[in-house]
Amino acid sequence: MMVKRNAELIEKILDLRKRKKAVILAHNYQRGEVQDIADFVGDSLELSQRAAKTDARVIVFCGVHFMAETASILCPDKTVLLPDINAGCPMADMVTSEKLIKRKGELPGATVVCYINSSAEVKAESDVCCTSANAVKVIKSLDAKEILFVPDQYLGHYISTKTDKKMILWSGFCSTHVKIQPQDITKKRLEYPQAKVIVHPECTPEVIALADEVLSTGGMCRFAQQTEAREIVVGTEIGIIHRLEKENPDKKFIPASEKAACPNMKLITLEKILWALEDMAPEIKVPEEIRLKAKAAVDKMLKVGRD
Ligand code: 13P
Ligand code: SF4
Repeated sequence: MMVKRNAELIEKILDLRKRKKAVILAHNYQRGEVQDIADFVGDSLELSQRAAKTDARVIVFCGVHFMAETASILCPDKTVLLPDINAGCPMADMVTSEKLIKRKGELPGATVVCYINSSAEVKAESDVCCTSANAVKVIKSLDAKEILFVPDQYLGHYISTKTDKKMILWSGFCSTHVKIQPQDITKKRLEYPQAKVIVHPECTPEVIALADEVLSTGGMCRFAQQTEAREIVVGTEIGIIHRLEKENPDKKFIPASEKAACPNMKLITLEKILWALEDMAPEIKVPEEIRLKAKAAVDKMLKVGRD
């Protein structure tokens, strides 16, 4: 029954996608059926690179609010749709432009680097943006002694272990990645002694210390294809397991913790993608004044590329 319903939805979505000249972009944490219908599935950096160069008229962004906003920052002439307007990112909400402006006043010499998981207003107040795929490279590229990094304290801490720059960290964190505990990794290592352990830099330093590799979600997909290991413990949001299994049917992927499910990423469904294409809503549009300032920070990041 469910399969038939999905098949009908997929048929309608594909028809509308063609008629509206739309492209469907999906983050690696999206539901399996959403990833399967997308034109492109990737990490935050790859998705912004894709958005920047698409010639489609409409971008259906299957991800969370800041990702659709980044697409709108890069493509002001395109219609950017976020199939569920409530798909936000709690970490991005942990810093506001008001609070950032106040902190900048206290640190006049500091260069501000914002994680892409932030609002357009926060990006507009930042010197440069980064994702987990290029954070170390972006920070190393800066001619700055002191860096204020917002909002993810754990990504910020991880970068600080890779550079000699003075990093002042905001106190934000990802409420999904903190669910992965050091004891989860220890347990999986005992269960799967041959496995490689890969974790996302949004994990706590205690979890990172127990990992073999620290990677963005795109980095994890590349690692999975290249490694000789047959078993891989994955310390990030569990939606990525779908793609990893699809691309590597001969390997076993073990979630570090089943609790690491981002409720916001899961708000996007096939039904909502269809409704978004039918109604051309909810649309995400960044006001021009903020967009231009935010774009400067995003463009600087895109020039750097990935780690
Ligand atoms: P990446 O896909 O860029 O590694 O990001 C992880 C994330 O938490 C996005 O919300
Ligand atoms: Fe935000 Fe974490 Fe969900 Fe990514 S996984 S969207 S950082 S809450």
